[in-house]
Order: sequence, then C-alpha cells, then structure tokens
Amino acid sequence: MSARQVELEGEVYYPPQEVIQQAVLKDWDALAEFAQRDLEGFWAKEAEELVWFQKWEKVLDASQAPFYKWFVGGKVNIAYNAVDRHLLTFRKNKLALIWEAEDGKSERTFSYYALNREVNRMANIIKSMGVGKGDRVTIYMGRIPEIVFAMLACAKIGAIHSVVFGGFSVDALQGRIADSESKLVITCDGAYQNGKLVELKRIVDEALKHCPTVENVIVVKRTGHDVPMESMRDHWYHDMCALPIANGKCPTEEMDAEDPLFILYTSGSTGKPKAILHTHGGYMVGTYATLKYVFDINDEDRFWCTADPGWITGHSYLVYGPFLNGATVFMFEGGPAYPYPNRWWQLIERFGITIFYTAPTAIRGLMRFGEAWPNKHDLSSLRLLGTVGEPINPEAWKWFYRVIGKERCPIMDTWWQTETGAFMITPTPVVPLKPGSGTRPFFGQVAEIVDEQGNPVPDGSEGYLVLTRPWPSMLRTIYKDPERYVSQYWSKYPGKYMTGDSARRDKDGYFWIIGRVDDVIKVSGHRLGTAEIESALITHPAVAESAAIGLPHEVKGQAIYCFVQLKPGFAPSEELGEELRQHVARHMGPIARPEEVRFIDKLPKTRSGKIMRRVLKARAQGLPEGDLSTLEE
Ligand code: WT7
Repeated sequence: MSARQVELEGEVYYPPQEVIQQAVLKDWDALAEFAQRDLEGFWAKEAEELVWFQKWEKVLDASQAPFYKWFVGGKVNIAYNAVDRHLLTFRKNKLALIWEAEDGKSERTFSYYALNREVNRMANIIKSMGVGKGDRVTIYMGRIPEIVFAMLACAKIGAIHSVVFGGFSVDALQGRIADSESKLVITCDGAYQNGKLVELKRIVDEALKHCPTVENVIVVKRTGHDVPMESMRDHWYHDMCALPIANGKCPTEEMDAEDPLFILYTSGSTGKPKAILHTHGGYMVGTYATLKYVFDINDEDRFWCTADPGWITGHSYLVYGPFLNGATVFMFEGGPAYPYPNRWWQLIERFGITIFYTAPTAIRGLMRFGEAWPNKHDLSSLRLLGTVGEPINPEAWKWFYRVIGKERCPIMDTWWQTETGAFMITPTPVVPLKPGSGTRPFFGQVAEIVDEQGNPVPDGSEGYLVLTRPWPSMLRTIYKDPERYVSQYWSKYPGKYMTGDSARRDKDGYFWIIGRVDDVIKVSGHRLGTAEIESALITHPAVAESAAIGLPHEVKGQAIYCFVQLKPGFAPSEELGEELRQHVARHMGPIARPEEVRFIDKLPKTRSGKIMRRVLKARAQGLPEGDLSTLEE
C-alpha cells in the first residue's frame, strides 16, 4: 500500500509528504512482502539489531505448538539491551527519562548513564534480599521513576516481575501476590491521584495478611505521609540505598531467550485473572521492532505514552520498547485533567513531545472541555499520534487529528493485547488511514475473521478475529496453568490464536475492531473481568448472587452495571446500591466501581446454571433478547 495514492473505500487520510520522507520505513509493501514470504527471516533481521550474549540456533521452534519458542538457544537480557548497550554509544549522555510530578512541583531527569546507575542500585538491593533468577517480585507503585527502575532491575537479575496496577485495591492485589508466590513486594508509601493520596503501603499491609510467601517489602518514599513499617519485613528504599551493598555494578544475568521476563495478570472470560507470561528474547524483539516501525522512533524524539506501567501498554511502550530503541521517554505522574483540562497539552508544549500515544477514552474525555484548552498551547512539536485500548469512534479520531495533530500528524490506532505483547494490527506512518480502523496486520502477521465454526466470513461481515501465524512477543503460557493457555486461546479454532474480539474486514483489507465477545469489560480502556467484580460483590453480607455486564458509555467506552439478587431479609434501596458500589471500589479498586447497581429478583440463567449476561445486556439496552431456548424456567 505504501504512500501510493491508491483508491480506497470510505473516508481516507493520506500521510503528509514530510512524514513519508522522514520515516525510517520507506516501503511498507516491500517489507510486508518479505515478512509474509519469510517470517523467520524478517524477525531474525530485527533480532540482529540487538545484542545477544550468544546467538540463537533456531529462530522459531513450532514443534510443540501452541507452545512456540523463539530464538531458541539464544542468550540475552532485555535490560542489557534497554540500558547497558546505549552506554557504549553517544546515547550515554542522552536523556532516557523525563518525569514530572502530578502537582508540577518536581521534575526529575535521567540520562541513560543515570538510568543505568539507578537500575544497578535497585538490582543490588533486590538481590540483597535473596531474590534471584526465576523468583517473582510484585511491584505495586504509582507512576514514579522508581517503578521503571524496579522493572528493569528485576529483568537485569533474571527475577520475574509482576506489576499490579496502583488503581487496584486489596483483594485484587492479594490474589495476584498469592498466585505469583512473590518473595518480595516493591511499593511506595503512597501515590497521588487528582490531588488525593492513595495509601498504597496500607493496601499492601492489608493484602499481606494472607500472603505467606512474601519475605520483604521495599517502600519508596513518595508522599512522605506516615506509614507503619513492620520491622524485619519492611525496608525504606532510601535507607537501603545508603548501604554499601547498593553501590557498584550488579552483574547482568545471561538469560535464555525463552526464560520468563514478567507475568502480568489480566482478566479472561471466566474465573480469576490469568498470569500472562512473556519472555526475554521474543518480547524484546517484538516491542523493539514494532515501536521502531510504527512510531518511527528516532534520537530526536520525545515519546510520551500516557499508560500506566501496571498495564501491558506501559510495559511495552512506556518502558521496554522505547528504551530498547534508545528513545527519550516522558512519564507523567498524573492524569489528563488535573488540576485543569489543559494539563496534558501544557506538558506537550513544555517538554516538546514529538510522539503522543494515549487512549480513546482520554480523548473523548478531553474533547468535552472544548478546543479552547488545547488551543492555548503550542503543540507544533508533535509529529505522530497514537491510540490504544479500545475502538476509537471516528468523531474522537477526527478531533484528535484536527485539534491536537493540526492535520499534520498521522494517528497510529494500534490493536493488540496483553497476550500479544506488541502491536498486531496497526498502521505505520506511511499508510493511508481510515478513522476507526487499525488498518492491517503488522509485518508477517495474518489475521482472519471467522464464524463460529472457524470458516472465514466474507469481507464486510462481522466475525471472530483470529491470528494464524506465531510472533515473537506472543504470550508463552499462562503461568502455572498451561492447560488453560491451550483451552483459552488455541482450542476453539485449532492452530489459530483466538483473540476474544469480534471484527470485520473491509474490501481494502482494513480491519475494524468491534469489541470483546467474552466476559471482559473495557472500562476506560482498562480490562476488567466480570468474575472478579462479582466475587467482590459476593463478599458483601446482603448479596446472594450477582452479575456484572458492560454497557456503552460516552466517555469510558463501557461502564460496569451490576445486577444483584439479595439474600432474604435484605431489601433493595438506593443506599444499599450505593454501599455495594463502594464495596466493589474498596475491594477491587476505584476503576472497578460500578456505574450502577440494580436489584433483580432472579438472574437469567441457563439450565446448567450459567448466568446469561447477554440477556441482561440486551434487556438493559431495550434490545431483542435473542435465542432464549437455553434459559431455565
Ligand atoms: C483488548 C486487549 C494492548 C493494549 C491495551 C489493551 C481492545 C486494544 C484496541 C484498538 C480496538 C482495541 C481489544 C483487545 N483493544 N487496542 N486499537 N482498537 N480495540 O490490552 O488490556 O489486554 O486488552 O483491548 O478488545 O482484545 P488489554
């Protein structure tokens, strides 16, 4: 497709000439053709741009599919490639990380040299607590530089990090620490959110009452408010930094390409969250190459990804991808509209951000405040924009394109998942765009739209989105549950990876994602499972049974609605509804607070006892309820 002015169906935005001229990628067609023809050759070429302690013997081993292996026999460490290798180049003194506090009162910057020093220090301290290769470390922090150091430090010594989003609360944290059997938790005294204090350390204390594997807790001081410290178990990070063991270089562990790098919990269709496992080798190559081509990242850029490190977007494109590319990363502690709706636009201007990657929900939220806020600021440093997390509605796309990008900056609408590790369906800066479509699969990838039986549906029809070729940054398994890995992703359509999304493809081969077809709810782009919300509700004494569903919401994309059947002796009331909303927020975290709790006499169920959320969803929206033949009497 490249920059050629091909005739495309629908509303099309062609890339500006200067973007095409500057792009590292000149000919999408040629590279796409090469990658289709020689998948392994394409990925080997990308891998060769990074440093391997020992080269791989085989690029792809599919002999035990779906347990694919990539760069088999290779020895590598992602942290070495993200940090150490840049010290041998001019990037040693280049800014790696610029951070600004939510209140704007402090700013911290780190060159690659300084980043290396910080990572070594953190790695020395983690190691001194008896944590080594293969041990799990839970990281539960706000958006501050130390979360980046902690992730890279774990990678450096071969420990497996499990970052839990700071917006989750006790139950969610406890479940994740317990399942991962972490030895160490790294947290902070607290975090700021819209000027309010979130007491992370106290939430950790609560969670650790039921987590016997945790031996130590490292606490980074961010807010300075009083927190209880348990002697022997809890250690202030700044105290540890003052010890001699914190100093000096910490050796980088030589990892097998297939050794685990991290686990990240995400919600699936049923049951408790799954720990998605990613590896040092393949994940490294995938995040490196996708960011290079899609955001065309180079040494002049200042890249800002607004995601939290607690989600995959933060892992891949706030931490690993940009540092692997030697980029300058901007990280902001706060959210989009605090204290005023121009906070982000002000930061773009102040720091000269060139690439800005965010979520549709944030764009929709900021749109509501009007154009006057962004128009106060000089946004001319921007050259590329991006979105991720949920489908972007064309109105929001056009607003972003016109008001923020001034019709000069192509928007990379990147479709991918926690499981894919890196972009899968995505534009590059040289391809024509259609608002609301992520265009086509990344190099080497093949996506199909299939029906219930797995047969391809005609272009234009809706169906299930599947991926038919392996890729380096694919999840390797669900930690401790390989059977669930196979059944969840590879059983419905043997040989094909089931994404859980529905989509359609138009006659130009462009993909349009419609949304999840399982019990995943996307609230402001955050992935939540109905099961986790329901199990929080059930811990309330008044609740007999409940069902959570997602309904369309103008800003959040989807919002959570809960249907609750009360126990005998409890009567529905507005107060009780409010209490239940708070209950979920307290246990799961504020992001899971239901929009509304509705009381129901009896939940619609199948004869086998499964709650029919689809029926609740249809009823709530006044839509036809569909096939009810399986509904119990
Ligand atoms: C689900 C994965 C990996 C990025 C953060 C989300 C939805 C993601 C898009 C997009 C339409 C999107 C899908 C997917 N999604 N990006 N550009 N357009 N939908 O990762 O939390 O694992 O969620 O997010 O439904 O399956 P995640």
